[in-house]
Amino acid sequence: MNKKTVRDLRPDELRGKRALVRVDFNVPLDEKGNVMDDTRITAALPTVKFLLERGARVILMSHLGRPKGKPESKYSLEPVGRRLQQLMPGVPICFVESTDSDEAQKCTRDAKNQVVLLENTRFLGGEESNDPRLARALAELGDLYVNDAFGSAHRAHASTEGLAHQLHPAVAGLLMEAELRYLGEALSQPKRPFVAVLGGAKISGKIDVIENMLPKVDRMLIGGAMACTFFKAMGLETGKSLVENDRVDMARTLVKRGGEKLVLPDDALVAPSLESASAAHAVKRDAIPKDQAMFDIGPVTCARFQREIEAAKTVIWNGPMGVFETPPFDAGTAAVAKALASATKRGATTVVGGGDSAAAVAQLGLESAMTHVSTGGGASLEFLEGKTLPGVAALDDRN
Ligand code: 3PG
Repeated sequence: MNKKTVRDLRPDELRGKRALVRVDFNVPLDEKGNVMDDTRITAALPTVKFLLERGARVILMSHLGRPKGKPESKYSLEPVGRRLQQLMPGVPICFVESTDSDEAQKCTRDAKNQVVLLENTRFLGGEESNDPRLARALAELGDLYVNDAFGSAHRAHASTEGLAHQLHPAVAGLLMEAELRYLGEALSQPKRPFVAVLGGAKISGKIDVIENMLPKVDRMLIGGAMACTFFKAMGLETGKSLVENDRVDMARTLVKRGGEKLVLPDDALVAPSLESASAAHAVKRDAIPKDQAMFDIGPVTCARFQREIEAAKTVIWNGPMGVFETPPFDAGTAAVAKALASATKRGATTVVGGGDSAAAVAQLGLESAMTHVSTGGGASLEFLEGKTLPGVAALDDRN
């Protein structure tokens, strides 16, 4: 990676210094405010520990949800602080309610053997508009800046992009480094065969990923409802399936351009509706009944995709194959996840994009069976689209 990371800092750049660390603690909370999935919190711990072990004082900041520049109690990071305390029992966590304040200044200056967690950065006007005045005010709270928020790296906000211009050194944390390494190496120097598995509801959300990855991969396996837009482009009946009519021409072009690389489902699991899942049955792709919809890839496709994945040396997967929350429409996604797990066992590099596919892998308990599961949904998608992530671009270059 051409960006500096915490590993590049000299001991004297860390000892006794206030490390202002942007993390992505945008985690789901239940109605009582309990953290429902702490993956993103645990993923940031190696950086926190790395800094503490080198004598730095750690000040964490993150956004949560989408409040509009002013405090809203349901988006407070306080419950996240409680979870963090459970995960780091030996280190007192000091939660600061007002990020842009004297209290924050004092707390971060006094912090010695504790970790400070600042309140939601999106409670501050200027965060999302990347106001340099806010970035300068935040810069007062630290002596160095660490961006470990891969999940937010596609946002040019004051605490992600702006701050990296105001406070130096500005370096990547260990999670950020790992995300960029796994995703980056898979894209730029894949061991072959290199297989991409793309799913999800809409082709419109994945079009740039398809365009960017098609020239790089040996096979691109397409599942999810977006396969139906391709079916329509091939002149097939799609029944009541989700089809993006305004993308049919685009799908036709991709089918032509993809040639043998682009593998579409041979069969589909269909039902009259999602509610009538008990009526689900498999049909060939050219036999989708007019009054039914595709909710998953069929068993023939599962077997084909499994063969392709298990023969691969590098696999990137983004997007579920069907409505995996509703059995039996979870079968395709489970088949793909298991195939990735067995490919990993045989030495392949397997990388799962964040968001729904990461949730599916977690639901199946297969996280540790993958080489890397990204913590970034939108960010990993933009990375796979070949876009520059502003939160990364702004960090200090390695000389
Ligand atoms: C995410 O969950 O994808 C990130 O935390 C970014 O959140 P945002 O889409 O609200 O910017």
